[in-house]
Amino acid sequence: MTDPQNALPLDEHSRAALAASALTYDALTGADASAFDRWLQAAYRGLHFDALTPEQLAQYREGFGPTRAIGVWDPTSAEPESPVATVASWRSPLSLGDGRSVDAWAISLVSVAATHRRRGIARALLEGELRAAHAAGIPLAMLTVSEATIYGRWGFGPAAYTADYRIDTRGLRVSAPLPAGRVHRVETAALRPAAPALMARSHERVAGEVPFDTQQFDRMFAIAARTASRAASLRAVRFDDASGVAQGFALYSVAEDPHDFAAHTLTVEYLCAATDDALVALWHHLLDQDLVATVVAPLRPVDEPLEWMVSNPRAVRTTDRREHLWLRVLDVPAALSARRYAAADSVLLRVTDPLGFAEGEWMLTTSPDGAATVTAHAGELHGAAVIDLGVEALGALLLGGTPVEALRLAGRLAEGAPGSADRLAAVLRPARAPHLSTWF
Ligand SMILES: CC(C)(COP(=O)(O)OP(=O)(O)OC[C@H]1O[C@@H](n2cnc3c(N)ncnc32)[C@H](O)[C@@H]1OP(=O)(O)O)[C@@H](O)C(=O)NCCC(=O)NCCS
Repeated sequence: MTDPQNALPLDEHSRAALAASALTYDALTGADASAFDRWLQAAYRGLHFDALTPEQLAQYREGFGPTRAIGVWDPTSAEPESPVATVASWRSPLSLGDGRSVDAWAISLVSVAATHRRRGIARALLEGELRAAHAAGIPLAMLTVSEATIYGRWGFGPAAYTADYRIDTRGLRVSAPLPAGRVHRVETAALRPAAPALMARSHERVAGEVPFDTQQFDRMFAIAARTASRAASLRAVRFDDASGVAQGFALYSVAEDPHDFAAHTLTVEYLCAATDDALVALWHHLLDQDLVATVVAPLRPVDEPLEWMVSNPRAVRTTDRREHLWLRVLDVPAALSARRYAAADSVLLRVTDPLGFAEGEWMLTTSPDGAATVTAHAGELHGAAVIDLGVEALGALLLGGTPVEALRLAGRLAEGAPGSADRLAAVLRPARAPHLSTWF
């Protein structure tokens, strides 16, 4: 059964739009296992993933229950019981750093069959999700994307970024002081029970993270059927502080170079640090291994301090850097007042939103303790900064990870009064770069 929290009513506009093309728009009830299997196989096919085995489907079915699963069916297709489009969604906290979070509507598994693309099906699905979430009072929608060209048109903006690093560790010294405490080798299965609590603590420290569900943990620890083939190569270490309390862990695998046994590549599968010491100690361990010449670390924060932790900053290469978490503001006061800010000021945000949810003039007033009030504005400015922007730029700015000045130079926002962009940047500045350490 779909969690009541996620069972938002189907959007009647989208139902009517799809019905006009003789398509059926409906939600799975969860009771019919074969309907769920067809729905999930359709989503996987649409995303060009391999078909799932019966064992994998059974595991998914078990963990997927609470999620809202919507499909579009074409009664005239050769297999009318298989959906031609899918979307999954659920209510989830989104971390705002320093222990805060905001309620968001997570959207995933958006797929339209190759036979039905470019007829407005994704538009109906996406707008249906946004209207449903807005009607339920959820202030934000969020997603990770296959292509960065798709979701801006619905008001999503990239809010958290990610980097892949490649470190040449031959002759490299880790210069960062080694924290007190100890890194222990542990069995992955033994570490698994402690992972959710450590992860929750590490996610509180940075904006952009979302909780992992049981299935994600099982995949990460190579327990799930889909990832079991990785189990043999997966290694685990745990960092305990000087009092013996676990404060982080790393999962990694090591692959041999066929031509040079002293040139293995170590891949950091996941690094979870609930304290700064855990981060530094775990990096010491990962970077300082015999027979390893290269360390690869995908999906890490863009401000990972690696270059500053080693004797040769040029040994650390950022091999990729890209936008990762996309946010769509549905309720400006609720979304903006949930986080804490870096400076006290007043900024009038004049927001345009083709779908109407965020449209308006909003006065963001921040106080020295970082708290904010956001009110619909009418009247005097009283010296407030003024920024004109679209809802897409507002989503990009929300966590402080997108530079205001870059958006200004790129024409994505405009100053209504001189100096306003600098003032907004000072207000939004985050302690750490926002980061999301998974896909959903
Ligand atoms: C991406 C996808 C969901 C789009 O579905 P669709 O039903 O063809 O999209 P629509 O017909 O509703 O198109 C809506 C708009 O998005 C645009 N669009 C659709 N797919 C796009 C893409 N891949 N890149 C850029 N624009 C795209 C359309 O041109 C249209 O533009 P408009 O606003 O100017 O009219 C579909 O092509 C798909 O399933 N792709 C493979 C799986 C995937 O990438 N899913 C997204 C996971 S995050």
